[in-house]
Amino acid sequence: MTPTQQARLSDYLAEQVQSVDRALDEWIPEESVEPTTIHRAMRYSLFAGGKRIRPVLAVAAAHTVSPSPQGIENAAATLELIHTYSLIHDDLPALDNDDLRRGRPTCHKVFGEAMAILAGDSLLTLAFEVLSRLKHVSAEKKIVLVEELSRAAGTVGGMIGGQVNDIEGEGKEPSALLLESIHRAKTGALLRASVRMGAIYAGATDAELAVLSEYGEHVGLAFQIIDDVLDVEQTSDALGKTAGKDQAQQKITFPAVYGLEQSRMMAEKERQAAHRALNQFGERAERLRQIADYIVLRSA
Ligand code: IPE
Ligand code: IPE
Ligand code: MG
Ligand code: MG
Ligand code: MG
Repeated sequence: MTPTQQARLSDYLAEQVQSVDRALDEWIPEESVEPTTIHRAMRYSLFAGGKRIRPVLAVAAAHTVSPSPQGIENAAATLELIHTYSLIHDDLPALDNDDLRRGRPTCHKVFGEAMAILAGDSLLTLAFEVLSRLKHVSAEKKIVLVEELSRAAGTVGGMIGGQVNDIEGEGKEPSALLLESIHRAKTGALLRASVRMGAIYAGATDAELAVLSEYGEHVGLAFQIIDDVLDVEQTSDALGKTAGKDQAQQKITFPAVYGLEQSRMMAEKERQAAHRALNQFGERAERLRQIADYIVLRSA
């Protein structure tokens, strides 16, 4: 990426993040609404400065299919609701037991475990309420979006399935096969669904959806490879979450199986495959290409 392209991407990212954040702010009850603790906890974790990669992927996929899909930020926001719920629960003492997230003490450190569990539950529930109340799409399309999101967050090849394998994999002999199944499910599924939901929202044809799904699979895997690499290479300050946790908890990660250098090469191969998948879209998919580059080249 040239510096100008990068500048243009950062403008685009800032614009989309702002629009998704506005939607999130409208959907989540104000902190003053009873019971106030839960709304404070939901907002605390959600508005702590996440990268918003999933909603941005949804919006960019939608823009690839159609120039101005009205109300897309609401559908995109549901991905961030599910993602933030998964982070709050991922950090709980029973899972990864983390104290730091998005540069702040984790939800359970501030609000206690019971409230953190409930804050996660309520973000999860709200995601489906938002989908059911979307204004600019047909009832049939809402059902398809609900299916996409619930499957990607679910137990069979979805986020929870991946989290189960991640937790049960702690301390096990790292194997390439187990590693890929963990990563495709715990992170890949939701990133792929982000691209698919944006595309479906904007009215993609079956052929367009197939190609965009392929792109989503490659960026999804690349994303978690880099998450694992950064856990080794970066500081907690830079990441806004505790660095070096994976090795301490004997997680099955790309660096554990392949080493850092080969892991980076594998992420680069996924980036190239993501680009290749977009060939037929030409210029229209430039944002998605830039986002694939950002996912692999990011430093936090
Ligand atoms: C971190 O996700 C957890 C994983 C699924 C790897 P992000 O790196 O997208 O976290 P935020 O949303 O920017 O905080
Ligand atoms: C978490 O993966 C994936 C989720 C479904 C939340 P990690 O445990 O690697 O995420 P971080 O590194 O804590 O953000
Ligand atoms: Mg985890
Ligand atoms: Mg974790
Ligand atoms: Mg990680």
